[in-house]
Amino acid sequence: MSRESFVITDADAWVILDSRGSETVEVELVSGSVKARASAPSGKSRGSREAVPFPEKGASASVEVFRRLLKAKLVGLDPADQRGVDDLLKKIDGTQLFSKIGGNLAYAVSACSAVLAAKLKQIPTWRHISQMSGIKPAYPIPLGNVLGGGSHAGEGAPDIQEFLVFPIKASNVAEAVKANVEIHRRLGQILAKRVGGFGGGKGDEGAFAPPVDDETALKAVKEAAGDTAYVGLDVAASSLYDAAKSEYVYRNRQLRRTKQQHFEFLSRLVERYGLRYVEDPFDESDFDGFAEFCRAFPKVLVCGDDLVVTRVELLRKAAEMGAVRAVILKPNQVGTITDTVEAAVEAERRGIVRVVSHRSGETCDDFLSHLAVGLGGKFIKAGVAGGERVAKANELLRIWYSSGDTIPMQRGDEV
Ligand code: PGA
Ligand code: ZN
Repeated sequence: MSRESFVITDADAWVILDSRGSETVEVELVSGSVKARASAPSGKSRGSREAVPFPEKGASASVEVFRRLLKAKLVGLDPADQRGVDDLLKKIDGTQLFSKIGGNLAYAVSACSAVLAAKLKQIPTWRHISQMSGIKPAYPIPLGNVLGGGSHAGEGAPDIQEFLVFPIKASNVAEAVKANVEIHRRLGQILAKRVGGFGGGKGDEGAFAPPVDDETALKAVKEAAGDTAYVGLDVAASSLYDAAKSEYVYRNRQLRRTKQQHFEFLSRLVERYGLRYVEDPFDESDFDGFAEFCRAFPKVLVCGDDLVVTRVELLRKAAEMGAVRAVILKPNQVGTITDTVEAAVEAERRGIVRVVSHRSGETCDDFLSHLAVGLGGKFIKAGVAGGERVAKANELLRIWYSSGDTIPMQRGDEV
């Protein structure tokens, strides 16, 4: 089938700030009078196999490389030829992990190209992504981080990085978004009453960061969720792992656990609190641990983030070992939309649940919501509170207001 072809007529990149006030990059691509922008988020608990966000000298070095090596070469390309754009990024970079141009620059160019192509095709970005992937679009269930610890919060907070909720019965986007916001609010009230001196402080993703241990935190989240939502965790266990001693270090509790003790601790939480989602329960190298956990808890969506880092070959390995039932898709882990789509298609083929995810340091860019809808994600993990998180929820609402029930809503009770 032939299609219209378009052409990039101008390109630029500059440094902007993310939600932590750290520098990141934004890219603008132009085709005649049509302009598109995309910016990149940054993670803090990054997998060792994910793209390097910036060259050694930071975001401004990415912009310098962009102007010197990329800008002129992007002009003349067709933004709807995603593979063409992404191949150019890989060729100019020439490293395994985008360490020369920076994975964040690669991602911003790649995403911007998709946004521009959709504008030129005069269709919503989610539809363009769906056409590119061949996956049927769907509204994802928001998987919201309501309480946080680990590397996203300060001393005294829980050691587990994220306490997550997702609505069980929401039948549309508005109900789903509202359900998470209400749980977050209720949780704030519960913590204010129960935790002496807690003034409502939040961590990097707008999740409350009270000075309590993991189980106390989980109890409060469970209570706030009531029967409206399932509860889950992102253990982000690579951040806890001490490879030299093969132990998991719960720093804020000054506690060390062997793998077996860590396994037992997590098992107790799953059983006691009816957890339905557990992300990164073990170190990123421990595929066997993940598989054992999957076998022990057939109802739990065991999800690979640092384990898979949005790479199709790691996803294949995890799937073949029975190590995951769900996978995080963070496009800047792998650097391009082509590779993200490839991982999503592989997950779809293998019946693995897709969780399209933000990073802890975000911008107000709302491309992620289109990506989640266009890749038929079961979940979008984009936080609950804070402007940069709400930007994703609001874009999801806008998509829903304009497309209504022509797109099916994923169901929390079918997890
Ligand atoms: P990040 O972690 O800080 O790397 O974005 C978020 C996550 O582990 O899901
Ligand atoms: Zn994670």
